[in-house]
Amino acid sequence: MHINILAIESSCDETSAAIIADGQVLSNVIASQKIHEAYGGVVPELASRAHLANIIPVVEEAITLSSIPKNKLSAIAFTAGPGLIGSLLVGSSFAKAMALALGIPLIAVHHMQAHVLAHFIKEPKPRFPFICLTVSGGHTQLVLVKDYLSMEVIGQTIDDAAGEAFDKTAKLLNLPYPGGPLIDKYAQQGDASAFQFPEPDVPQLDFSFSGLKTSILYFLRNQLKQDPSFIESRLNDICASVQQRIISILMNKLEQAVLQYKVNDVAIAGGVSANSGLRKALKHSGDAKGWNIFLPEMQYCTDNAAMIAMTAHYKFIAGEFVSLDAAPSPSFAWK
Ligand code: KG4
Ligand code: ZN
Repeated sequence: MHINILAIESSCDETSAAIIADGQVLSNVIASQKIHEAYGGVVPELASRAHLANIIPVVEEAITLSSIPKNKLSAIAFTAGPGLIGSLLVGSSFAKAMALALGIPLIAVHHMQAHVLAHFIKEPKPRFPFICLTVSGGHTQLVLVKDYLSMEVIGQTIDDAAGEAFDKTAKLLNLPYPGGPLIDKYAQQGDASAFQFPEPDVPQLDFSFSGLKTSILYFLRNQLKQDPSFIESRLNDICASVQQRIISILMNKLEQAVLQYKVNDVAIAGGVSANSGLRKALKHSGDAKGWNIFLPEMQYCTDNAAMIAMTAHYKFIAGEFVSLDAAPSPSFAWK
């Protein structure tokens, strides 16, 4: 029997659909919503409306590219959370309607678990147990991955997520949303030691980014009083210095976790894992400490349905299906 799954991701501002056949991703179509750029962040109502407009063409394209006809699908998977409730509802309602029409089972997927399992889409794949630093716009977590569907969050942010730290800094620098990729770009031309921002003192394996955000705000206010063109004239150095601090906060805790849990395989996942400085820092630590490191391909770092499909494949094998009354939730429980 073949396992052919259509997966739908709609937790935030990307509408995506993917087809996976016997564990091989055959298509991964992503429609990004440009509409939020003008607002400096994702506007939930506009996101839901854009998902509604995108979902049919995106699903149709994913099916066409895969060459798997609808009547050969074994299940439909959807992101059940965490995410924006309006956005989640569009994807989950579509998935349910299609599963009902085709008479096939439904699979509910945890978005952050899927970011971790993005590492199983392509070779090389990490071996269990491994630690994954999962960093996105909404989450910052250290995950001990014991098996495909057995994961434990061993550390997380107590306030803002790493992606939020990037995006909020970008907003203070008058850059459009999402600011993470732009800070990454400017940082590559800047001097990371130009300005010093504080490293928070947070116990155990948890993170904090809200103090950093406040210190950047006061720093910019002071500098702008003396030189109104400070941001324009020092943009590269500011971006490089902020990025450097975000990376050092993440890497220090990751190193602590690897030491504590004695693993050899170390991965990063989530939108912020696209950051060139973080990727370099992980490679550097891997070389220095003898870790096997795993960096997802760029297209699987930020939100995509291929990672939902990969997770659904393992859930299908484990027989983890949900009924048509399964509800998505902004705080969908980690299982
Ligand atoms: O995983 P993701 O696509 O969506 C969520 O689940 O949140 O992550 C989006 C986050 C945003 O905060 C975005 O600014 C950040 O990932 N991001 C980056 C880079 N590319 C995306 N942050 C830093 N550097 C990048 N190159
Ligand atoms: Zn995500």
